[in-house]
Amino acid sequence: ADLVVAIDGPSGSGKSSVARRVAQVLQLRYLDTGAMYRAVTWWLLEQGVELTDTERAAELTARIPLRMGTDPQRPTVHVGDVDVAGPIRESRISAAVSAVATNLGIRRELVARQQAIAAERGVVVEGRDITTVVAPDAPVRVLLTASEETRLSRRANELHGESTESTVEATRDEVLRRDADDSTVARFLDAAEGVDVVDSSHMTLDETVRAVLDLVEK
Ligand code: ADP
Ligand code: CDP
Repeated sequence: ADLVVAIDGPSGSGKSSVARRVAQVLQLRYLDTGAMYRAVTWWLLEQGVELTDTERAAELTARIPLRMGTDPQRPTVHVGDVDVAGPIRESRISAAVSAVATNLGIRRELVARQQAIAAERGVVVEGRDITTVVAPDAPVRVLLTASEETRLSRRANELHGESTESTVEATRDEVLRRDADDSTVARFLDAAEGVDVVDSSHMTLDETVRAVLDLVEK
């Protein structure tokens, strides 16, 4: 009854879009764990904390009044009363988030919060370490991949409204640098034992959602 579907994948692989749709179809909640790392980054910068001061950053994170709205139709992110859904997508946050994600004290705190949310009710959880650390016992665990070219073109579309040579170039640095930074902690991007890989490079969004639903029904 309280199904947990765990989805991991790199930037632009389609996690958020696919996870939301799967949650809607199965009437589960939806949790974007990347948004949690982004919200922590926003909050630490807001308070002028040096992200390199890992101890202080972790201490403050333990007290962040972070509220994740898990309705897949309308996911929300609040820090206290501030709606941060927009600000956490800014490029200054994308540029800083890996420094937060590599802070092990912060990871410990966020993983605990994610596990608490997942324990409440059925949920689709997406991120980088869901299949391995947050919900290694989930009955459905998926690694969503896509070629670098596909991921860059999707991100360019999202950020610039079109995928042309120049928008893809503008996106390349950010995405590839974050991939590289993440890879220092992203043992989480290898498919762990028992994790099904779905490569969406040549699939439509509908087909990708179907592929994940097929794994749920399997
Ligand atoms: P991630 O959360 O992994 O960074 P997103 O879901 O935010 O990825 O972005 C993926 C983008 O690519 C969305 O705009 C989505 O509509 C588009 N897209 C195109 N084809 C697919 C597909 N087959 N699967 C998932 N997303 C796709
Ligand atoms: O923008 P994109 O969808 O690629 O990333 P995101 O899902 O919003 O995640 C932002 C960042 O948070 C990633 O680049 C990782 O550094 C970090 N993250 C993580 O470390 N662990 C997770 N479970 C989710 C995200």
